[in-house]
Amino acid sequence: MKKRILLAPSILSSDFARLGEEARRVEQGGADWLHLDVMDGIFVPNLTFGAAVIAALRPHTALFFDVHLMITQPERYLDDFIRAGADLLTLHLEACGEAGLPEALKTIRAAGKKTGLSIKPGTPAEGLFSYLEQIDLALVMTVEPGFGGQRFLPETLPKIKALREEISRRGLDVILQADGGINEETIAGAARAGADCFVAGSAVFGASDPAQAIARLRQRADPIPQ
Ligand code: DX5
Ligand code: ZN
Repeated sequence: MKKRILLAPSILSSDFARLGEEARRVEQGGADWLHLDVMDGIFVPNLTFGAAVIAALRPHTALFFDVHLMITQPERYLDDFIRAGADLLTLHLEACGEAGLPEALKTIRAAGKKTGLSIKPGTPAEGLFSYLEQIDLALVMTVEPGFGGQRFLPETLPKIKALREEISRRGLDVILQADGGINEETIAGAARAGADCFVAGSAVFGASDPAQAIARLRQRADPIPQ
């Protein structure tokens, strides 16, 4: 059976003074997940929010919380994000020590949460291959992480393809997420390359009608839904 496309609006492009309402708006608009971008000003040159804000937002929506940790040594804060209500924690391969990574993934799964691992545009897809059995989601950044509203980098498409092929070859059930510059023009290419989960910040929250934007993105990614 064909797998369903998942759409994860990124709260980064929403009105931070009204996070609860913004989350509900995309929940009612048909979003599958809510993508939460945590940045520390060190791993990426921008700062956003941490576990306290996620915990405050948790009661406002039933959406699955897809937490993208763009922070150095994320293992320091895993328990905080788990307690805050994260459903999935995605770490960056480049942000974790090789030694600490398997342990961090184990901690997340032991708490009953999903694990994700991400790579920046300059990191080869093969970097994720040895972790595919330990993760529920592989995230290919399709822009340099740090800011919303950037242009999609088409040179990342072969990495999506390589990961999709490896996931299929091993018969694994790993979600393949694309994040950055996803809009009505770029989503189809990412879907064709093999992504099945799409983060969209400005394309959803910047639209006058987020529900319509979500529906259009879904249609472009999966023209023949099953
Ligand atoms: C960028 C973040 C993205 C960002 C995407 O570092 O990881 O999730 O919110 O925003 P758009 O969709 O506007 O590129
Ligand atoms: Zn993100």
